[in-house]
Amino acid sequence: MTDSQETEVSEAQIAVHWREEEYYQPPPAFVAQANANDPAIFDRFTEDKFPGCFTEYADLLTWDRRWDTVLDTSSPPFWKWFVGGRLNACYNCVDRHAQADPGKTAVIFVPELESDEVVRVSYGDLLRQVSEFAALLRDFCGLRAGDRVTLHMPMVPELPVVMLACARLGVIHSQVFAGFSGHACGTRIADSGSRVLITMDGYYRAGAMLDHKAKADEALEEAARQGQEVDKVLVWRRRPGEYASQAPMQAGRDFFVDEILPRYAGATVEPVSMDATAPLFLMYTSGTTGRPKGAQHSTGGYLAYVTGTSKYYQDIHPDDVYWCMADIGWITGHSYIVYGPLALGTTTVIYEGVPNYPDAGRPWRIAQQLGVNIFHTSPTSIRMLRKVGPEEPKKYDYHFKHMTTVGEPIEPEVWRWYHSEVGKGEAVIVDTWWQTETGGFLGSTLPALQPMKPGSCGPAVLGIYPVIYDEDGNQVPAGSGRAGNICIRNPWPGIMQTIWGQPERFIDVYYRKYNKDPQSTDWRDWPYFAGDGAVQAADGYFRILGRVDDVINVAGHRLGTKELESAALTGPEVAEAAAVPVMDDIRGRVVEMYVSLKPGAPGEGAEEKVTAAIETEIGKIARPKNVWVVADMPKTRSGKIMRRVIASVSNFADVGDVTTLANPEVVESIRRQVQSAKLAKGELPRELSEAEYEEISRYGAAE
Ligand code: WT7
Repeated sequence: MTDSQETEVSEAQIAVHWREEEYYQPPPAFVAQANANDPAIFDRFTEDKFPGCFTEYADLLTWDRRWDTVLDTSSPPFWKWFVGGRLNACYNCVDRHAQADPGKTAVIFVPELESDEVVRVSYGDLLRQVSEFAALLRDFCGLRAGDRVTLHMPMVPELPVVMLACARLGVIHSQVFAGFSGHACGTRIADSGSRVLITMDGYYRAGAMLDHKAKADEALEEAARQGQEVDKVLVWRRRPGEYASQAPMQAGRDFFVDEILPRYAGATVEPVSMDATAPLFLMYTSGTTGRPKGAQHSTGGYLAYVTGTSKYYQDIHPDDVYWCMADIGWITGHSYIVYGPLALGTTTVIYEGVPNYPDAGRPWRIAQQLGVNIFHTSPTSIRMLRKVGPEEPKKYDYHFKHMTTVGEPIEPEVWRWYHSEVGKGEAVIVDTWWQTETGGFLGSTLPALQPMKPGSCGPAVLGIYPVIYDEDGNQVPAGSGRAGNICIRNPWPGIMQTIWGQPERFIDVYYRKYNKDPQSTDWRDWPYFAGDGAVQAADGYFRILGRVDDVINVAGHRLGTKELESAALTGPEVAEAAAVPVMDDIRGRVVEMYVSLKPGAPGEGAEEKVTAAIETEIGKIARPKNVWVVADMPKTRSGKIMRRVIASVSNFADVGDVTTLANPEVVESIRRQVQSAKLAKGELPRELSEAEYEEISRYGAAE
């Protein structure tokens, strides 16, 4: 790189300043019992030991046949891990523990209503339930290894039963977050080519039973519109025998599981021995274009990676009671509620409802009642619990040895409350940075061996070798105070295999940008582009700044700008739509929509219609904070909507230089319209950190 004085500074290089935070040391009691408390572990994962270092993770599993090749790089970037190996994921998570200790609790289900009893499922029970449901999938639905099945299930113990029953048969499950709409579920049914949908009649959320089966009917309609027919819908009943939905059951298509399952009572289904490289599941995530991306995760590599990281980073021992409050409908739940913890034979807690029902003390009451000692949640939940009940944790007698934060950057202030109040100063914290695509953790401190630093995830985890590049592919050095695009130089076992049905897009999105030679079969030429901005401090710790693409991270969940905008455009009056992020004290970011209407369109109730369209197409999670109907959008001379300008308006930030726009005059009128309406609603300007300011000022630049 030439003299930076003369070179124009690229978007990715903007300096980010923040106060260096102090280190916090792990409590000695934690260190004494930790799975990884000998620094020799670092020597086993140095770069010269790659890829063989990861056999340490694979050796935590029981294999039907050991692999011949640890890593096959012959067709980059479609890496193949543990080639020649054979195993079954369900066997590893259930059978082997049921054989060793059938009475040991595998799952504790906590219903949202406190008057309902907690359900404990032993490993022996789990094996029986999984076998019976596998028999139903095989014999009633005709599903075989390699078939895809879509699940649209809430947080109930039947969900891991279904996932593991699929895994037992080698059937690829695709669980769609229950909060997503029927339409979003239908799109994923169609994309994955599922013939079977598994759902539930209803579930409790904030004290009310939600009608969930109604979404199945919308999903099937949408899937059919996209050319995918579903021949069976399996409907679990939240309370067997009682139907909680208003939606009719369609004869010959819809079946109550509690009526069919008794036919398979006592059935034994042998786990199907799968290739390590066989897909285990799909997890859909948002991209910048409308079509969702089905991240395809493998059986051997994925399971090895989540098991290894659960052991060392979650510090799970078989006798722990582990509670991750995420939803199994997201990757966090797949990796760190179901597969990792169960592969280690521990007890994992599943909570049905919202954290603050019926009051802000609920999580701490659950922790006390169940003896939870490992706790895992998101900054959004921490901020919310801190706001509604800052004094609540004190009132309960629970003791965490370990806590996790995941999904979004956490403010040091919030981190300190988590540490001192929730953790009572007794728990170590890991801030884990990773993604749907990566299967498991990429950045975190190793809890007994590396000190914590609030606001930073820490260094890379064992066996992961990151680099920060600027836009031109120059390395941004640690300690330079400059941000860039964080990439991972090497493959790892948890990385997705491809985007289901879109291999070219897989290369384009994650590898094209920094690929050194498309012909090369050397992994060193294929850095993985994570899509996050990051800064590395002199001590090697990373601070993740957020997405560099057009994705809005709402409460730790990625929403694609394009998906939001196409939903808004389904309204017949809407001519143009733009989605922007607004900084939010609880949810990190929320969505705000700008729309302009077609000439002569009545405009009556347009705001409500856009909101309803987004809820229908995506789900309530995407509900915009505001919808602004504007006369015209600020545009470049080539006609592109300048999202950074309206994002600045929505966040009361300086709009920057707008003189090069085709219509600079609209900016001031939009600013007046939006900001005065916000002030009238009591949405006051909030001070932005430098990183937030930077995010807004480059928002939409990726297009
Ligand atoms: C995006 C991935 C990680 C599984 C759940 C979300 C952001 C994730 C952190 C963290 C700062 C984080 C990134 C990432 N993110 N963890 N500890 N600190 N940012 O998975 O929906 O695929 O979202 O979440 O921007 O790219 P996801």
